[in-house]
Amino acid sequence: MRVAQETAAGRFANQTGLVTGAASGLGRATAIGLAREGARLVLFDRDEAGLRQTQAACAGAITVVGDVTSAADHARAAEAAAGLGTISLLATAAGILGPTKPLAEVQEAEWDQLFDINVKGTWLAIRAVLPVMLAAGRGAIVTFSSGAGLAGNTTFPAYSASKGAVVLLTRSLAASHAGQGIRANTICPGPIETPMLRGTFAAAGDEAAAAEREAIFRARNPMGRFGTAQEIADTALFLLSDTASYINGVALPVDGGRLA
Ligand SMILES: NC(=O)c1ccc[n+]([C@@H]2O[C@H](COP(=O)([O-])OP(=O)(O)OC[C@H]3O[C@@H](n4cnc5c(N)ncnc54)[C@H](O)[C@@H]3O)[C@@H](O)[C@H]2O)c1
Repeated sequence: MRVAQETAAGRFANQTGLVTGAASGLGRATAIGLAREGARLVLFDRDEAGLRQTQAACAGAITVVGDVTSAADHARAAEAAAGLGTISLLATAAGILGPTKPLAEVQEAEWDQLFDINVKGTWLAIRAVLPVMLAAGRGAIVTFSSGAGLAGNTTFPAYSASKGAVVLLTRSLAASHAGQGIRANTICPGPIETPMLRGTFAAAGDEAAAAEREAIFRARNPMGRFGTAQEIADTALFLLSDTASYINGVALPVDGGRLA
């Protein structure tokens, strides 16, 4: 009767987790969902005020203000998690859009910052918690790629490349450690209503250009709407839960059929 017990106590009762990018959007929604279902959480982000708002909705959670490009900050977060219990859940939602311009116009510093946050930041988070998960023989990891990590993108090609890297980082992780009790999957969201999506439109230029980009994004989605943070959080929780016990190494589009 494992399933019935899990439901009554919350799917993540007695589990410890770490969520990066927890101060906003998809990381916040994922953290709130995990906490509601019983997880003890470390909320990691560089935005202290946003973290505090998320913390208010996550019973028992603690915050770590830090930068995902810093191995030292990840070590602090992992140490904080150890104070709560043996970490078994990781969601890496921290990320940026970076330059929305043709590849030939992207500056080296922009490229480096984008890959530092989106790719290195994801790897560092994994590296910080994996030894504990391996020692315990149990761990579920969800990373955040993008639909732009599965198909080329002309609006933000550098971002697309960084999210493609997240897909294969996650698949490699999944293939490497499945035999040791670790599962890893990545979510590839389509356009989801968060501050990042609004930034994507604003990056088009003035108000008219932003409205035009928004209309294009909406029109090319088969459902004719953007997703909600809750829809992505629900997917993350499913993939992190034991219900997904045989799902490993998947790059799952959650995009209303955009890539169908
Ligand atoms: N919203 C979408 O439409 C969409 C679509 C596809 C993929 N994604 C991906 O989902 C993830 C979450 O996106 P979101 O829409 O919630 O974005 P968001 O901008 O609302 O939140 C991102 C969070 O990451 C944090 N962050 C950024 N750089 C950081 C750093 N160096 N150190 C610590 N924290 C940092 C920010 O402070 C912020 O709280 C991102 O990886 C994004 O690329 C989003």
